[in-house]
Amino acid sequence: MSRLDSFIRRMTSQKILLEYLVDKVNLVEGPVLELGLGNGRTYDHLREIYPDKEIFVFDFAMNCHPSCAPDADHMILGDIRDTLAFCAPRVRAQASFAHIDIGSADPTNDLAIVNWLAPLIDERMAVGGFVLTALELDLPNFELLEKPEGIHPGRYHIYRKFAEA
Ligand SMILES: C[S@@+](CC[C@H](N)C(=O)[O-])C[C@H]1O[C@@H](n2cnc3c(N)ncnc32)[C@H](O)[C@@H]1O
Repeated sequence: MSRLDSFIRRMTSQKILLEYLVDKVNLVEGPVLELGLGNGRTYDHLREIYPDKEIFVFDFAMNCHPSCAPDADHMILGDIRDTLAFCAPRVRAQASFAHIDIGSADPTNDLAIVNWLAPLIDERMAVGGFVLTALELDLPNFELLEKPEGIHPGRYHIYRKFAEA
């Protein structure tokens, strides 16, 4: 498969999965967390599909298109390894949804990321909340959910928290 086809498939899967979860996430109280602003594509989509949710965005820096820059209260700058651990006073409630888009494309680095990320994400999620990620996270108090038709198996994971750890 060409890199163009692979890119299109990835973007299409992201859109299908984000939209698939909206009705379920809206039944849960709490803000949305976007881990990885990048150029703001998925953040911009989240704003559109969650008009009634507060969305907090995490990244090292704000390098997105100016039309989709989060406001200062909702852009949390720095290494997520630090900021996710200490964002509670700012984000306040536990989250109904986290979209994690910070994979590195390097399997060793990804293993390191999931090691520090899983406990931090657990702490920030509400019971009943959903996590969408391409990273395989070890979250014993979350269930792994089925994905909608057409999503490549193993490419994305949907987790739902069923209990506090
Ligand atoms: C693939 S891009 C996100 C793309 C974005 N969701 C979009 O649709 O445009 C990944 C982003 O995650 C950020 N990132 C990766 N690891 C991070 C970390 N540990 N702390 C903060 N930001 C991180 C990178 O700076 C990059 O902007």
